[in-house]
This record gives sequence, structure tokens and C-alpha cells, in this order.
Amino acid sequence: RSKIPFFQGIDPELLKRIVPYVQEKTYRKGTLIFLEGSEGNEIYFIASGSVSIHTFNKSKKVILAFFQEGDYFGEMALIKPGLVRSATAETIAPTRLFVLQGTDFKYLFENDRNLLYYLVEDTMDRLRNANRQIYDLTFLKVRSRIMKRLKGWAEEYAAPRQAGPVLIPMKLTHQQLADLVGAVRETVSKVLQELQDEGLIQIRQKMIQVISIKQLESKLLEDE
Ligand code: CMP
Repeated sequence: RSKIPFFQGIDPELLKRIVPYVQEKTYRKGTLIFLEGSEGNEIYFIASGSVSIHTFNKSKKVILAFFQEGDYFGEMALIKPGLVRSATAETIAPTRLFVLQGTDFKYLFENDRNLLYYLVEDTMDRLRNANRQIYDLTFLKVRSRIMKRLKGWAEEYAAPRQAGPVLIPMKLTHQQLADLVGAVRETVSKVLQELQDEGLIQIRQKMIQVISIKQLESKLLEDE
């Protein structure tokens, strides 16, 4: 559990008391963990693998977040009685989860102020990201939304002061990228081809390499 920041911050005495109640579960890629609107009384911590959080209607799906090793999800339905899952969670790789019951989760943060601060801080980050997503979906064209995502990832994965090409180490399908930016797969394929033709990106073993973050940034400003 050492790789999970949530557990690292907890008072060790308190942690000892709940450890016996933590369950471990493994899932194959593409498994639904829970559905939006369902009742849920557990919070999940990712020991390994990754999970997408999405919401959908009849024709489209939009991914709200991707979570990876060390992240948690499913806390929102636990805060007040009667709340249901606000989105659907699905594994996008073979995944191992630690599961904690809502009552144990509540017990933890009611007894540990640091944990409460940690949760609030993390929730603010998530809200900030959600606001950014609202901006992008409202104001940007699909092409710009894709470029912005690629730029964000390239910045995240670039070594400090790296100026050259940056490989984004995620094997995303065009459909997943489409779900992330609220577009259809065909449009994403078309835009990725355009960006390749313009020399902004290269596809390497199903992963995207951004040739130059600076160049992508100035193109993005032009397009907006
Ligand atoms: P819950 O509502 O229980 O189930 C869905 C979970 O997805 C939710 O708890 C959060 O953990 C997570 N989630 C929902 N919306 C967002 C979002 N906008 N950003 C990040 N995580 C989210």
C-alpha cells in the first residue's frame, strides 16, 4: 500500500485499525466496476492498472478522468447518505484494486485531519481539471482539444528542460481519445493524420510522439 498517497498520510495507528478491512480485487481489462446511477458504498484505490471514469448518453461517451496506480475513486457517493455513483468506472488495463467500505473511509477522515486536508486538496485539483474540460468542450474546436491534450501529456512526460521530441507513453485508441475530447472516432483519426502531415506529431508503436511542444503550442494559439 506504500505506493498509494492516500494511505501514506494516515496516522499509522489509525491505519493499523482499518487494514484488516481492506479487500483486494483483480479485474480484467474492459470490466465495469460500477455504473453511473447505481448505489455504491465503497471507495477504490488502484494498486496497479488503470481505470477510466466516464458518463454517456445514447450516442456518445465522454471520459471525465483517467486514474492510475496510486489514485482513488468512488469517494463521492460516500459523502452523504442516498447519493449514487456520479459516473461509470471501467478498467482499461488489467487492474488490481484495494476496496474500502464507506464506513471505514468515513471513520478515517473523521479521525485524521491531515487526511481531510488531503482529500479537500485533491478534490480542488479535480474541480480545476473539470473546469478546464468545460472550457475546452465549450470553446475549442475538436482539433484544438486534441492538440491541447497532446501538449498537456507531452509536458507531463518530458524530462526537465527537454526540448526535442517527447513520446507519450500511453497506448490510447482513437476511440479512447475521441471519448476524452467529446468527439467521434473518425474526426480524431482525421485530425491525427493532419497533425502528422504537418510534422507536429509522429505515431510510434501505437503511441504518439510530439515533435516539439513549442511548435504545438504556437499552432494551438493560431488555431484558437
Ligand atoms: P462516485 O460518484 O462515487 O463514482 C464515480 C467516481 O468518479 C466519483 O465518485 C469520483 O471518484 C470520480 N469522478 C467523478 N467525476 C469526476 C471528475 N470530474 N474528475 C475526476 N473524478 C471524477
